[in-house]
Amino acid sequence: MNNVAVIGSQWGDEGKGKIVDWLSSEADVVVRFQGGHNAGHTLVINGVTYKLRLLPSGIVRENKISIIGNGVVIDPWALLEEIEEIRSKGVKITTENLIISESANLILPFHKEMDEIREDIAGKSKIGTTRRGIGPAYEDKVGRRSIRVMDLISKKNLDQRLETVLMHHNAIRKGLGKKLFEKNKLIKDLLDIAPKILIHSQPVWKRIDQLTKNKKKILFEGAQGILLDVDHGTYPFVTSSNTVASSAATGVGCGPQKINYVLGITKAYTTRVGEGPFPTELSDSIGEELGIRGKEFGTVTSRKRRCGWFDGVLVRQTIKISGINGIALTKLDVLDTLKEIKMCIAYELNGKKIDYLPASVEDQIKVKPVYRLFKGWLKSTRGIKKFEELPQNAKDYINELEKFIEAKVSSVSTSPERNDTILIQDPFKSN
Ligand code: GDP
Ligand code: IMO
Ligand code: MG
Repeated sequence: MNNVAVIGSQWGDEGKGKIVDWLSSEADVVVRFQGGHNAGHTLVINGVTYKLRLLPSGIVRENKISIIGNGVVIDPWALLEEIEEIRSKGVKITTENLIISESANLILPFHKEMDEIREDIAGKSKIGTTRRGIGPAYEDKVGRRSIRVMDLISKKNLDQRLETVLMHHNAIRKGLGKKLFEKNKLIKDLLDIAPKILIHSQPVWKRIDQLTKNKKKILFEGAQGILLDVDHGTYPFVTSSNTVASSAATGVGCGPQKINYVLGITKAYTTRVGEGPFPTELSDSIGEELGIRGKEFGTVTSRKRRCGWFDGVLVRQTIKISGINGIALTKLDVLDTLKEIKMCIAYELNGKKIDYLPASVEDQIKVKPVYRLFKGWLKSTRGIKKFEELPQNAKDYINELEKFIEAKVSSVSTSPERNDTILIQDPFKSN
């Protein structure tokens, strides 16, 4: 039996939450390994919607262990608020089923403020971040001045660590003419909530080691998507973490061989929130239709998501970069009403055909998609659970997509509901 890593193969919001929840019936443990509450993962179970930001999507099932790994950046207030919100829907969250890494880095109010200050002064060159403080918190982590979960243990500790990190932040704030950040109230506020976080904290690497020895099945839940990866995405219009599958090992503290199957979640079309290049973007009525049918509004910020055709070139690229073994194709039903469907199979750049997205933003903006046309199926696929029951044109679209991206379609999702999913190949049982 495999451990499986689930990652987004596009610009996020591919439906990772739905697929992780669906697959978690087979897993014992679900672990988040990067990102923070910039993520918004939606689960729909018997008509009830759960929106998760930091909690792993296994939390809603009984007898599963949910772990927030060291690679995640945690806003402790956002996490406590989310725990309460999910508890209010009848989900049990205890020290038995929620474990938080003692070495995860904290997002503090001055990180959020720095994110906002930078976005506000950037004008046209803003990234369009979620303004949650993700970037500044990861910067402090690699800058070795961050505050971690374990630092919540003592006032003295917090005082010393905050002194160091605020020296850095206040120098920038002063330079930008912003009010300096005072540490005393923050220390008090952190000490107030510390016990609620610390009761869940453990050395996660040790727990993962133990669970693996006991043959427990682990589902690693990625956030964002490969095109938002800080190394491999459309830099600088990316997030501040590595979203590729290999970062699951670093983000929880285990070897890469613990990940036996990488499942890339892939929308049957493309969306993006925030700024940055998007070769197949549609600014016409079809783009609008995809947005309306797909309910493409951000889970975290409620921003309208930009919509476009499926970009085979990009997905094939992200499959290679992150070692995706198979994909879960989501939101097929959103295409049900289209007479004609397009898939990008190459780009044109300066009069030449190319088969990959170049690394420079200037070129990424210039590339023109080359499309292959497909006939729409003009029938409802919503809720279909068997591949044979799909209309022939939908099967043709999926088969051709699979050939082009050079990875197997291992499942197809046909609605937001947990069980409206076609299983073709079980990631826990295939290699
Ligand atoms: P994530 O960030 O990758 O977990 O994705 P989000 O939850 O942010 O966005 C995906 C949205 O699509 C959510 O509203 C899901 O409920 C919805 N969704 C997921 N799968 C399907 C599907 O197959 N069909 C439809 N119509 N909606 C889906
Ligand atoms: P899930 O896990 C879609 C985008 C933001 C912005 C860029 C940087 O739900 O798929 P950040 O706040 O991370 O510094 O913003 O990344 N972004 C996402 N887009 N889904 C997400 O997460 C995202 N998380 C960040 O919109 O363009
Ligand atoms: Mg999302």
